[in-house]
Order: sequence, then C-alpha cells, then structure tokens
Amino acid sequence: MSANNNEWSPSSWRTKPIAQDVEYPDQDNLNRVLDKVSKLPPLVTPGEIERLRYQLAQVQNNEAFLLHAGDCAESFDACNQEAIAHKLGLILSFSLILIWGARMPVVRIGRIAGQYAKPRSSATEKIGDRVVTSFRGDNVNGLDPDDRTPNPERMLSAYFHSSTTLNYLRGLLSSGFASLHLNQPRDWSLSHVQSPALQQEFENILDGLSDALEFSRTIGQDRSKSYEHGGGRDPLGEVDLYTSHEGLMLPYEEALTREFPVPSGAHVASGKTPAKAHYNTSAHFLWIGDRTRQLTGAHVEYFRGIRNPIGCKVGPSMQGEELVRLLDIVNPDKEPGRVTLITRYGAGKVEEHLAGHIQVVKASGHPVVWVCDPMHGNTHTSASGLKTRSFGTIISELTSCIRIHTENDSRLGGVSLEFTGELDDKGFSVTECVGGSMELCESNLPLRYQSFCDPRLNFEQSLDVAFLISNHYKQERRALRKGKQNEYEEDVVYSALGGLQSRSTSRIASRAGSPPKAA
Ligand code: PEP
Ligand code: CO
Repeated sequence: MSANNNEWSPSSWRTKPIAQDVEYPDQDNLNRVLDKVSKLPPLVTPGEIERLRYQLAQVQNNEAFLLHAGDCAESFDACNQEAIAHKLGLILSFSLILIWGARMPVVRIGRIAGQYAKPRSSATEKIGDRVVTSFRGDNVNGLDPDDRTPNPERMLSAYFHSSTTLNYLRGLLSSGFASLHLNQPRDWSLSHVQSPALQQEFENILDGLSDALEFSRTIGQDRSKSYEHGGGRDPLGEVDLYTSHEGLMLPYEEALTREFPVPSGAHVASGKTPAKAHYNTSAHFLWIGDRTRQLTGAHVEYFRGIRNPIGCKVGPSMQGEELVRLLDIVNPDKEPGRVTLITRYGAGKVEEHLAGHIQVVKASGHPVVWVCDPMHGNTHTSASGLKTRSFGTIISELTSCIRIHTENDSRLGGVSLEFTGELDDKGFSVTECVGGSMELCESNLPLRYQSFCDPRLNFEQSLDVAFLISNHYKQERRALRKGKQNEYEEDVVYSALGGLQSRSTSRIASRAGSPPKAA
C-alpha cells in the first residue's frame, strides 16, 4: 500500500477539486439526508464484493468473459416488476449465448439497482425556448423542467429504489428465474424476438443445452434434483449477478462506505491481505466516468481507497502516461481483478488510441481487465433531433477492439453496453438505436423512444451483438482445437462481422412483408 493511502478516508475527497459537482441550496437538509443514509444498512456485502474481485481476476486470466450492461440511467418510474424482470431476462439471454459460443463462464454486472446519477457536458440545457439546469438523473433533480433544483431527498429515494430493485433481483434469482432445468430461458426471451431466424438461433442453443443436461443426468453429473425440490444451491439454477453504477455522487457514496473486516479467503495476490478495509456497500462495482477521472480530482481520491473492484472509462483524450499514473494511484499493489479499463473512443478513433494504451499498460506491469464500450463514443443526433447510435458503428468499434487486442498480444475481456429488455404494454421494444436485424431506421425512432438519457439497444439488437461475440469466440475455440491458430489470426477476426451480416440478411428475408415489431 502506498504511504499516501494512510491519509485516505471516506471523506478525504472533500479536500480535492470536484468535477460535475452538485450544489444544494439547503445544506442543513443535505446533511440530515446524508446522516440518515449513513445509518441505513449496506445494499451489498463484503463477501459478495470479494467474490466479484476474484471473478474479475479470472476474466483477466482469460478464464471468463465480462458482460457489463444495462441502462444509461435508471429512473424511479421504471422501477417496477415487469421492467426489472425484462432487464434480467435480457442479461441472462445475452450471457447464455456467450457461454454457449465461448464455452466460458460469463461474469454479469448490471448497470442496475443504483444507476441514477448522470454527468453532463453542460450545466444548462435548452427545452423549447427555456434554458434550464440540466437533468442530472433521478438521484439529483427531476426530468420535469420545473423540477431542476437539486433536492437531497432524492438520494434517500435512490437508496430505497436501489434496495427494492436489488431485493426483487435476488428474489427472482433465488427462486428459479435463471434455472435452465425449469426451462426458463424460453420465457426470458422468445416472446421478445420477432425475427424467426433469430428465434431459431436461440432455440438451437436451448436444444443443445437440453441435450447436454440430459447427457449429464444420464451419467449422473446432474445436481438439479436438489434444486427442484427446494434444496441446495445449483450452479445452473442460481447465477451470480452483480450491481454497478457510476460513482459520481460522492456524498452518497461516502455515506454508504463502511469499514469491515476483510472476509477470510479474500483473494489478495500481493499477499498483503488487510485485516480491515473500506467497502462501498451501495454496489459491487463502481466506475469513474470519462468526465471525472482527473488524477488530482475528488473522484480518483475517493476511488483509490475503496476495496471494491472499480472501472475507469478511457476516452480519446486520455494520454498514455496519464493512464499509467491513474493505475498507480488506484492500484498501487497491482492486484488482479481490482481495475477494469472500459475503453470508449468511438469507431473512428479506436485505431488511433487503443494499441498505444495497451502497450503502455503492458509496459507498466499493471494487471487490468480490458472492456470495450462501443456505445459512448458513437452517439449522434438524428435528423428529427433524437440522440441515437447506429448498430453498424457499434459493431465496427467492437470488431476493431477485438482485432487490435489480438494484434497487440492482448485480449478483450468483456463488453460494456447500454441495452434494455423493456417492452411496452403491447409487447413492443424500444426504438432508440438504428440498424440491427430489425433494420430500424431513423424514421422509426420516435415510435417508442423511451430513454431520457443515451439511446439503448433493444432486446433484438442486443441479441444480435451477443451472437456476433459468441460466434467470434466459437470460431476461435474451434480454430484452436484444430491447432490452426495461424489460419485463425488471418481470417477469423474479420469473419465474425461477415457472419452477422449474412444472418441478418436471412432473418430479414424470412420475415419479408411483416413490419418491424417496433412499428
Ligand atoms: C455512461 O457510461 O453512461 C457514461 C456517461 O459514460 P462516459 O463517462 O464514458 O461518457
Ligand atoms: Co450513457
């Protein structure tokens, strides 16, 4: 641990300059709310946080793949039974497709149960003719232009909405929602997907799984009986799901930071297991956004002292030397699983920056998990004025990332996506990103544009991405098995994209004449 660390406390960030600060008009009320939050129970536990740290170290060793996904911003209004179940169903469907293709465990971290605060490029925004304070997320102020004054009571509300979301997620997962034996995957997914070809691809996976489970039963390896009879934990019936949000609102994060003994058996590669540590108990994983990662700023100061695994967004303005200094500050002991770098350059800039970043991090000896966020560098405004992202551009950044890692003797450990499985009462998906096998075009965007923040992939577009990644790793696996690594290096990286395009074409052809589901 660095000497500096002795001076760290959950509130030491208060001595540093803070980006994206929120000014509350009523300080007494702010202090009263923070005092209340600081006495409420933890939302997550040190044991769970340590388990995630360990699993992220496995991702770094290429033994697992990381899926980090969910809303750009959650809202208090969307905290309801259906929305939570649909979001979980999409996370599980996506990860099942990956597991099937890559034959690798997937570590799932949802942008869920706390993703309520947003950084903004500008302090004000124009709504009609009015210039009002920008909306900063339900944790801070209201979407209604007349409700833009920051209100500390919203932090209390964020705590309770997080806790009720988490409670329902835990309930679903512990009562068989994720069970493959109980045939749940059909329920999560198939009703959301219109394209017969995509449905068929998912069905093929489920058929393959049923066969594999039947085979395990025959040879006596299946442990489902205990689960189906309400018995012990079954690895196929219950899955891990971790929660995350951007650690933007430091007063809130501080109030939920608690000191605990480090659970015995915690994974500490340096051998320096601390007896006690500060855990942020509002989520398992927190990340530093691209706008708040200043080396001498409040956010980096706060993050360096918590024991949770953390993410850091890496955009095109990050200098190589700055990146290494950041890693030195937040992970001085070079602990595996502690830092995940989430790159988000934009499809047009990834070539310019990623290889250099991989090289400086390698040279520094810092262990990191590399994750591609192909969303945040690829947002544009449509002709109708709606913020959107194009499926092709998202895939382009993702494909480049996979290739550049391979060329630099590195490996992409995961993806970070903004997606949602939410449907409206008629069963239609959101229409926020263009393209994908549904072929959404800009004129479809207003049909069901729900996001009040960044545009998200809908259910079907998300499964398109899942199949792309899954097929890439399937081909890699097969090439390795056949001992054709050289051939793979030349051909396979690019063929994943071609594969997606040809499947999309067949899907579109097979439902010719029917309108997109979003219509
Ligand atoms: C986000 O992840 O929602 C976000 C705002 O990202 P970034 O900090 O990379 O812009
Ligand atoms: Co976003």
